[in-house]
Amino acid sequence: MNLTGKKILLGITGSIAAYKSILLVRLLVKAGAEVKVIQTEASKQFVSPLVLSTLSKNAVLFDLAEGEAWANHVMLGRWADLMVMAPLSCNTLSKMATGACDNLLLAVYLSATCPVMICPAMDEDMWLHATTRRNLTVLTNDGITVIPVGHGELGSGLVGEGRMAEPEQILKAIGLKLSIQTKGLDGKIGMVTAGPTYEPIDPVRFIGNHSSGKMGVEIADALSLAGADVTLILGPSVERPKNGKVKVVNVTTANEMFDVVKALFPSIDIGVFAAAVADYRPENAFTSKWKKDGSTAPPTIKLVENPDILKFCGENKNDGQFLVGFALETENEDANALKKLKTKKADLLVLNSLQDEGAGFGTNTNKIAIFDKKGEKKTFPLMKKSEVAREIVNAIISELS
Ligand code: PMT
Repeated sequence: MNLTGKKILLGITGSIAAYKSILLVRLLVKAGAEVKVIQTEASKQFVSPLVLSTLSKNAVLFDLAEGEAWANHVMLGRWADLMVMAPLSCNTLSKMATGACDNLLLAVYLSATCPVMICPAMDEDMWLHATTRRNLTVLTNDGITVIPVGHGELGSGLVGEGRMAEPEQILKAIGLKLSIQTKGLDGKIGMVTAGPTYEPIDPVRFIGNHSSGKMGVEIADALSLAGADVTLILGPSVERPKNGKVKVVNVTTANEMFDVVKALFPSIDIGVFAAAVADYRPENAFTSKWKKDGSTAPPTIKLVENPDILKFCGENKNDGQFLVGFALETENEDANALKKLKTKKADLLVLNSLQDEGAGFGTNTNKIAIFDKKGEKKTFPLMKKSEVAREIVNAIISELS
């Protein structure tokens, strides 16, 4: 694992599992990360600041004010690429869920602009308590990554759920979370479809949909940031990738999109199909504007089926190619998504539902679930589309490795 240049803020709270954070600091430093440790007062009973400052090569931070000096929690929150709370006690977990701010660690958490990961550690009864469940739901909905607890011997001597994940597992999760920035897709060729398609009725009218292209454009940017050489095939949209390295091919109709995909498909490693492609098009578009003259009945538009672009790729892919499909649903979400995963032969399927507020068309946010090939589902909270894109790319990197 190479974390060279990555900045990790490690929060340590009062739990017997704090002894494991010593090894975590060592592993992080060995992987090339710069580590700053913030301890709560209670954690000092379990692990010595001297050990942590020696291993991290940085002074351990505790207080909002050190003598005359003020510990700048805002700058600390901005310094890090990732904030990790390991171990996270039941007490600090509850404070994070309510927004309490009575120590430096909580002040930094509330100021952090980077992603936050938590590694809870507590006795089984506390872990299973309804209050803890509720607090975890709050944090998950806030976009915090939770590293699940393990089963085994606990501080109380009982055996059950609640052990903090092992340092090696936490290191792997950190690597995965940051993998997009460590070029996990170097050398890969990616293709993304995005936006709507417009199917002409006549020179001024078309059949279309509400897709803005935002989701697919963010995915193209995220793939490129992860090192892939990306072509974005974009239906009518005002959105543009931020990353100048992404090549954009503009198309209007499903058939045009299909032609570009067919040409690129043999050379790609990864295909992500975020476009909302019209399933049908008018069989014959009028060549001049259709006019209402009052004497004729409204026209009947005969529709014919458009090619299913993802299905074509799924049926023709080779072993080295990895395909991610989308499903936009309004009902029976899971069943419909699983059906699309199977019939279109995708390797991952991203479900978004119009039932979820802030999800789907046009918004800057989305709420997704990702199904893998075995049909296993991973859900995500409402996040910015840029963050959703990062999670999708992380899932691709994880599957490919
Ligand atoms: O563009 P935004 O405003 O940001 O909105 C994002 C989005 C809602 C469009 C996006 O997140 C999304 O869900 N895209 C897929 C929408 C869709 O058409 O889903 P579907 O269930 O109809 O299609 C299933 C899959 O097959 C999709 O991967 C789709 O790209 C693909 N497909 C569908 C029909 C077709 N003829 N060819 C295809 O490739």
